[in-house]
Amino acid sequence: MLSAKENKQGSTCESIMLECIKKRRSIRKYKNEEVSNEVIFKLLDAARHAPFGGPCEIGPQLWEFIIIRNPTIRKALAHENKEREFITTAPVIIACCADTTKDPKYRDYDITVALAVENLMLAATSMGLGTCYVTCYGNHIAHEGERKILRETLKLPAHIRLVSLITLGYPDEVPTPKPLRELENMVHYDHWGRKKCQ
Ligand SMILES: Cc1cc2nc3c(=O)[nH]c(=O)nc-3n(C[C@H](O)[C@H](O)[C@H](O)COP(=O)(O)O)c2cc1C
Repeated sequence: MLSAKENKQGSTCESIMLECIKKRRSIRKYKNEEVSNEVIFKLLDAARHAPFGGPCEIGPQLWEFIIIRNPTIRKALAHENKEREFITTAPVIIACCADTTKDPKYRDYDITVALAVENLMLAATSMGLGTCYVTCYGNHIAHEGERKILRETLKLPAHIRLVSLITLGYPDEVPTPKPLRELENMVHYDHWGRKKCQ
């Protein structure tokens, strides 16, 4: 049982947490303002607290992050694709990767990196920063060319899987509210299709 004090702290923490989760939006317009390494390291510290597959040891902690500020590299990552042009305007891009040699039997690289990325994005929101998850094209055959450009630009060795690019900066836009599917439409009880809680 929590003491009254712990409970009060708990509920404050809960409301801040939920506020942050609901406040986070993809930001595609950034102020011309630098983000310090100190701030970025706080975000990466949040990222490395995410769950990972395997025992609680250093071994399976497969995350690797590349902090990109160089304008030529940011431009190359946009690879002249109009939809990705906005990434050149973010002062920082963080390439989020997995080292596939950490555990040769492990395959869930993308989910492990994605969980860390969500931590990073929520921590950024809590610090007044904006982020956007930018795809690295996963395993799509149709996007092999783009994937190759990204890998070559970042000089990635073969054992490093590139999962996502996260743009980072101080927001210069307020996205319009987004529609959300009704919760009750996504929820089933005990098995698929049972819509009533017994
Ligand atoms: C797997 C994944 C890939 C995404 N890829 C891109 C992308 O390449 N470019 C982009 O602008 N946004 C991308 N997004 C961001 C989504 O467009 C965005 O999260 C979604 O529209 C919901 O909006 P919100 O983030 O503001 O809540 C991606 C998000 C996810 C989860």
